[in-house]
Parts: sequence; C-alpha cells; structure tokens
Amino acid sequence: MQKFVIASANENKIKEFQEMLKPFSVRVVPYKTLIKDENFEIEETGKTFEENAKLKAETICEKTGLPTFADDSGFCVKSLNDFPGLYSARFANEVGGYDKAFEEIKNRLNGKCSEAQFVCVIAFARKGEKTLTFKGICNGFTVFPPRGENGFGYDSIFVPNSYGLTFAEMTDEEKNSISHRFVATSKFLKFMEELKKEQESKKSVKEDSPVKKVAKRVVKEKVQVVEDVIIAKSDTQPEIVSDDVFQVEVDEKFDAPEVPFSSVDDAKN
Ligand code: IMP
Repeated sequence: MQKFVIASANENKIKEFQEMLKPFSVRVVPYKTLIKDENFEIEETGKTFEENAKLKAETICEKTGLPTFADDSGFCVKSLNDFPGLYSARFANEVGGYDKAFEEIKNRLNGKCSEAQFVCVIAFARKGEKTLTFKGICNGFTVFPPRGENGFGYDSIFVPNSYGLTFAEMTDEEKNSISHRFVATSKFLKFMEELKKEQESKKSVKEDSPVKKVAKRVVKEKVQVVEDVIIAKSDTQPEIVSDDVFQVEVDEKFDAPEVPFSSVDDAKN
C-alpha cells in the first residue's frame, strides 16, 4: 500500500484525511511518526495560504522522501483587508481566546457587517514533481453577536452566502458539505482519482495487457523474419535487403495484428 505523509500534528485533521484517502489504497502517516526530532518545527513564514501549505508539504517531503500533503486555512474579513487570514489561530491566541478575538474584530469593524470568507489550501508534494495546490473558498459575511455552539474557531461569527445560519449553528454534515475545506478536499480527491486511474492503466500496459503481449510477440516474430531474410538473401544475393522485400516477406509469413507503434516500442524495452 502506498504511503502518504500528512504534514500536520492535528489529530482531527489526520483522522479526517485517513478516512478520505482510504478508497485510494493510501496509508496516511503523520509526519511525527517519521521525524522523531523533538525540536523539529516548520516555520510558517509564507505570505499566502498557498505558500504556507507548500512550505509544510515540501519540507516534510524533502525530509522523508515520501509524497506529502499539508493544508493551511483561515478566516478573512474583507473590510479588514482579509485580517486575520494567515494569522487566524495566532490572533485568537494573542488576544486571549476566540471570544476576545470576536470582540476585537467587531470593534475594528465599528460594529458594521463585512463580507468575509474561509479559505483552505491543500498542497501535495512529491519528489521530482511540481508541488500541486488545491484551493477551497466559502464566501459569506460576519455577524455579531456570535451565534451557535457547534464547530470551532470563527464559525459562530460567519454566515455563508445563501444561508441563514452561522457555521456554528449548522450540523457537521451541513457545514462539511459547503465549507472551504470540503471544496479543497474535493479537488484533491478528484486529482487522487485521476492519479489512481493513470497508475492502473500504466500498470496494466506494463504487466499483462493483451496489447502488450501481442506487441511482444510481433516484435519477436519480426526480428526472426528479418534474420531469416538476411540469412536467405546473404546465401544467394549479397546486396542489402530493401524495405519492399522485408514487407513482402513479413506479409507472407504471418498476419501481423495492428499494433500501435508506441506499444511496439514499449514492448521492445
Ligand atoms: P489551520 O489550518 O489548522 O492552521 O487553521 C488556522 C485557523 O483558521 C484555525 O485555528 C481557526 O482559527 C481558523 N479556521 C480554519 N478553518 C476554520 C473553520 O472551518 N472554522 C472556524 N475557524 C477556522
């Protein structure tokens, strides 16, 4: 089974991704089980969600040599130039918790409502390949006072467009069917499906496809025919065998099935 590393220490995220990637025969391993160094930390120095997600995925991929994915997310308030954005977790910590963070945001907005969005970016890094990113956005607006008991973080001050409830008033199922994380994850899973299909078709051509078998037989027989012709001709006529002679000899000897050139080349190797 293929092993993927998740560049996160968050138990909930790890479990969620392990579940999601089960159908793809992928074992999701948290990076801490592979990198034992207690002092090892990834500094999130990027200036965008993409940069931070990439930084995390690439750093761990580099260290482990294994395909690695990471995500980065946050809450962006449009009238505050997308604040707290990248600093969503840090800001709440610094002001003393989410209730204080809500107060602070409300004050900075002078009590007014603002458009807002949740953003999530998943980065997937593999050795020797360009790192891919999958972005999900959920658009909506801020509400004060906070409403709802479910969810976490900024859920209780955010109402997604076309909904009357905050994320914190929705059930997990409702939130998870429209959230930024859902959109990014769906894109990532779609890519995984395509990757799986590609790997399966490569495997079947390599191992046991009927095309490959026929191609191998044709190449072998053609080589034999050429050798026979060369030997036969060299006994009687020493000149070089032309393509015409080769074609005639081949057609007379057997009915060669139509095989694409690429398959024949592949079979030779
Ligand atoms: P991270 O992607 O785990 O680093 O999340 C960064 C921070 O963004 C979280 O700690 C929350 O403050 C905020 N955040 C991200 N996603 C959500 C969400 O779905 N609901 C509420 N807050 C979120």
